Amino acid sequence: MKQDLIVILDLGSTQNTVIAREIRDLGVYSEIHPHDITAEELKALPNVKGIILNGGENRVVDGLEVQIRPELYELGYPMLSVDYPQSKCVARFAELPDKDALRKFLFEDCKAETNWNMKNFIEDQIELIRNQVGDRKVLLALSGGVDSSVVAAMLIKAIGQQLVCVHVNHGLMRKNESESVVKVFRDELHANLIYVDASERFLGKLEHVADPEQKRKIIGGEFIRVFEEEARKLEGIDFLGQGTIYPDIIESGTKTAKMVKSHHNVGGLPEDLKFELVEPLKQLFKDEVRACGVELGLPHDMVYRQPFPGPGLGVRCLGAITRDRLEAVRESDAILREEFARAGLDKKVWQYFTVIPDFKSVGMKNNARVFEYMVIIRAINTVDAMTASVEKVDWDVLERITERILAEVENVNRVCFDMSPKPPATIEFE
Ligand code: XMP
Repeated sequence: MKQDLIVILDLGSTQNTVIAREIRDLGVYSEIHPHDITAEELKALPNVKGIILNGGENRVVDGLEVQIRPELYELGYPMLSVDYPQSKCVARFAELPDKDALRKFLFEDCKAETNWNMKNFIEDQIELIRNQVGDRKVLLALSGGVDSSVVAAMLIKAIGQQLVCVHVNHGLMRKNESESVVKVFRDELHANLIYVDASERFLGKLEHVADPEQKRKIIGGEFIRVFEEEARKLEGIDFLGQGTIYPDIIESGTKTAKMVKSHHNVGGLPEDLKFELVEPLKQLFKDEVRACGVELGLPHDMVYRQPFPGPGLGVRCLGAITRDRLEAVRESDAILREEFARAGLDKKVWQYFTVIPDFKSVGMKNNARVFEYMVIIRAINTVDAMTASVEKVDWDVLERITERILAEVENVNRVCFDMSPKPPATIEFE
C-alpha cells in the first residue's frame, strides 16, 4: 500500500465522516474503524500513522460509556482526542478541531505524508484486486450509473477479460443510455460485456400495474431474476463486483450509530449462487468515486451524471405504464437535458427530469380539439436528497423547453412546472 493511514475510532460521533473528509482533503488517507478494534487488528492495517478518538453524541450506549481497549494506548501511535476525555493523547480538543489543529496533528505529530491521491489509490486497488481474484472471474451488474461504471473501469484495468459485465436494459432507461453503456464499455474499453434487452419482459410484467410500491417491487425483483438467469449461463465465476461506496457502509449502521437504511446493490440473489464480493470503492466518498472515474478515463458525462433512480423512467411514467407515455417521458426528458446543458444549468442544478401523469387534458392542435397528456418539469437542488428546494429556472429557458416539448413530443399538449419543495413533496413522484 502506498498511502499513510490515519485511523478514526468511532466512539459514536456523527462527525466521524466530516473529520475523515477533512483529513483526506489535507491529502492524507483516513478510515473510520469500530471503537472496539483490537491491537492486533489495528497493527494489521497498513501504514497507520496516528489515531483519532472521536467521542460524541452517542458515546453512551445502553447506559454504558463506549471505551476503546486500553491496550491501544501502548502501541505508541500519536493520538488526538476530540470530545473524549483521555489524558494519554498528544492533544485534546473539546470539539471539532479546526484545519490548523488537524494539520499540526497530521504533519507534526504523526509525520504523515500527503500521498492520498487517486493515482495511488487506483494502483493500490489494482494490486488488491489481483491478489484477491487471481486468475478467476468476476461478474458485475453494470447499470451505467456512476458507481457501477467506475467499478467496471477499475476491474477492467485490474483483470481485463476476467471481468464479465452484464448490462440489463429494463426498457425504463433514458434516451440512448443503454447504447452509451455498450459504446463506452464494449467498444472503447473492450470489456467482456453481455447486453440483455429485457424491455419487453419488464413492460409485460408491469402492464396494468398502477401502485407505485408494486411497480418498484416488480422492477427490482425482475432485475434480480434476469441477472440471475445470465449468471447461471456462465461458468466458473467466483466473485461478484459491487459498487458499494463509503456512505453505504456508514449508513448501514455502525456499532454506535443507529441504522439509517440497509443497502444491497444486487442483493436478493438465491442462496445457491454464492459469490465472494469485490468492492474496490467501499472506502470512497461520492466525489472521490467521480475523481476516480475521471482518473480511470471514463467520459465526463458518465462520471458527473445526475442521480437516476434504479426503477428508472418507470417511476416517472405515473400509474400503470403505457408505451405512448413512456416514449413521451423519454423524449421530453431528453429535450429537458439538452436545453439545460445548452443553458449551462446541467452544472448548476442537482436533479432535473420530466414526469407524465396518467390522465389527459383538453387542448387544440391544427384547429381541432385534442385530448392529450401533460409533461411536468421538475428541477431541484439539495445537499443530501433529504430535503430539496426548487431551482428558479429562467423563464426564457422554460419557454424554449415548453415549445420544443409541444412541437416534438407526440401525445402531449400541455407542460407544467412543479413548484413543490421537499418536504412535503418528495423529489420523485412515485
Ligand atoms: P425521493 O423521491 O425519495 O428521492 O425524494 C430522493 C433521491 O433518491 C432517488 N431515488 C432513487 N435512487 N433507487 C435509487 O437508486 C431508487 O429506487 C430511488 N428512488 C428515488 C431520487 O431520484 C432522488 O435523487
